[in-house]
Amino acid sequence: MDPFNPLDPQLAIYPYPAYAALRAQDPVHMSALGAYVLTRHEDVSRLFADTDTFQHQYVTQQKLRAGPEVEAEPYFDYFRRMIFVSDNPAHRRLRTLMNKAFTLRRVRELRVHAERIAAELMEAKSKQRHMDFIEDFTYPFPLRVIGTVLGIPDSDHEVIGAHATALNPVLEFLPMSEEVKAKANEAVGILSEYFEALANARRADPTDDLFSAMVHAAEEGDVLSTDELIANAILLYVAGHETTAGGTGLALLSLHKHPDQWALLKERPELMPTAVEELLRYDTPGQGSARVATKPTTFGDTQIDAGSIILGCIGAANRDPEAYADPNTLNIERDFNQAPRPATWGGGAHLCLGRMLALQEFEVALSLLFQKYPTLEVEEESIAFRPTPLMRGLQTLRVSW
Ligand code: HEM
Repeated sequence: MDPFNPLDPQLAIYPYPAYAALRAQDPVHMSALGAYVLTRHEDVSRLFADTDTFQHQYVTQQKLRAGPEVEAEPYFDYFRRMIFVSDNPAHRRLRTLMNKAFTLRRVRELRVHAERIAAELMEAKSKQRHMDFIEDFTYPFPLRVIGTVLGIPDSDHEVIGAHATALNPVLEFLPMSEEVKAKANEAVGILSEYFEALANARRADPTDDLFSAMVHAAEEGDVLSTDELIANAILLYVAGHETTAGGTGLALLSLHKHPDQWALLKERPELMPTAVEELLRYDTPGQGSARVATKPTTFGDTQIDAGSIILGCIGAANRDPEAYADPNTLNIERDFNQAPRPATWGGGAHLCLGRMLALQEFEVALSLLFQKYPTLEVEEESIAFRPTPLMRGLQTLRVSW
């Protein structure tokens, strides 16, 4: 029997037993989707690190997923220009220019804004003393932080965030219905107009936000074109909110399921940075990313032909017993100096550009909950997962205090 069904709804709810079976029986697995699935940490790391042998080849991948007509879709025209699906030499160029804008100093300066936004979202429910943590906190929080990063006025955050959310299904491997495609096309139409106007405004009048820095980033006379600016501003929204929202909900759920770890973190807040890495290793929102083999290669004994699609299962790599002792145990004191870097943030040249920002958001959110809402409890019966296996997260998680 096939140990892994990529269309099994259970994968979106709790994929780890299926990954463990696959890793033990067939770690380089040809799945029913026609793509190889890798579940060992070592293999997933190589998939991300070796950018000569494994590339995104986004157009090829999307044509296989959605048919050749996908190239005519307006959303596709923007997605193909995004840094996270580009290959060298285009990727190297985009990364050099975007790195100039994404500095640690800028991320650190955002901390006070993140703290203010998190506090406001919790205080909005302070009278009723309960909320749907997903709808009322985990989604609006990173959306407003990204909006602030990009220098968007507070009044526009909600509407821009709602359009960005309509683009989430484009990142999945599941087929997109005509209705979902229409919504994605409408969203890129509105977002591209918005960011084009913003790019023009920042060109004329630079400000101190990341988008302005992207507009003015230059390397040997080379700058990002308007289409690239629009596409990558949209990407920052898409990459920066769904993962962080998913991860924040999963982190709270994991702590709820491990009261000893929750108590330990409350008692020893200095463990927070390790705890956040561990929570994201234990249950990660970005469950996988795919590449195309550019030449014949092997993983273990398995021969891979050029042109094969290969999915690196990040969630499976993070629970590989060859990489982590007791991988199914949440241990916020885990010594990451004695273990390989979790695959949570990808690796190699495409290593997540927003990881420092994301880590800071997790720290801000969890610290706020511990310090100001120490009696907060999860309502067990409210726990429901989203149906999306690659972008893992919760649909509802009610909390009260
Ligand atoms: C828990 C939160 C996050 C997780 C788990 C995460 C995960 C990842 C992963 C796995 C990749 C690599 C994908 C690949 O190689 O195919 C990636 C890339 C990227 N992420 Fe994140 N991410 C998170 C938050 C963010 C945030 C907050 C931002 C920005 C605001 C961001 C921006 C990016 C960008 C721009 C890339 C593409 C980098 C490149 O291709 O050079 N991410 N992320």
